[in-house]
Amino acid sequence: MTQEAPTRRVVVPGLVVTAAGAAAGYVIASGSSAADPKPPAAEANAAGGAPAAGNPTTPLANLADIPANGGLVIEDASTVLTRDGGDGIKAFTSVCTHQGCNVSSVEGGQIICPCHGSKFDARTGARVAGPAKQPLAPIPVTVRDGAVFSG
Ligand code: FES
Repeated sequence: MTQEAPTRRVVVPGLVVTAAGAAAGYVIASGSSAADPKPPAAEANAAGGAPAAGNPTTPLANLADIPANGGLVIEDASTVLTRDGGDGIKAFTSVCTHQGCNVSSVEGGQIICPCHGSKFDARTGARVAGPAKQPLAPIPVTVRDGAVFSG
């Protein structure tokens, strides 16, 4: 029996990455996430809630793809994963609490929204700058077998 490989679109600073699964590796396409912010994500996440999709058996990302002291935005899961200097992973909704843009990157310990400049603490999701008034909602994740899973 084989585990179905996930197909996800993730954003890292300056790149759009389409993951075709751990076994197949990654396809990297050019594009700037910071210059091309997504319009507000309307669905269930507009209020900053957890992503609607969440399969605890399908990894959100491989741990190796999340830079230490950085993060990874997974647009199709409306999730931003952040990593400390080790294997500590936190997850938050990637939908900005200001007007619903997707955050674009994690830099200098902050999650960045490109639309109006809101910034959130990468470890807590708390708002640290910009027009957003509310924090990014946390999303429960677990790390096992070198990958990050919902739940
Ligand atoms: S939508 Fe994020 S700062 Fe305005």
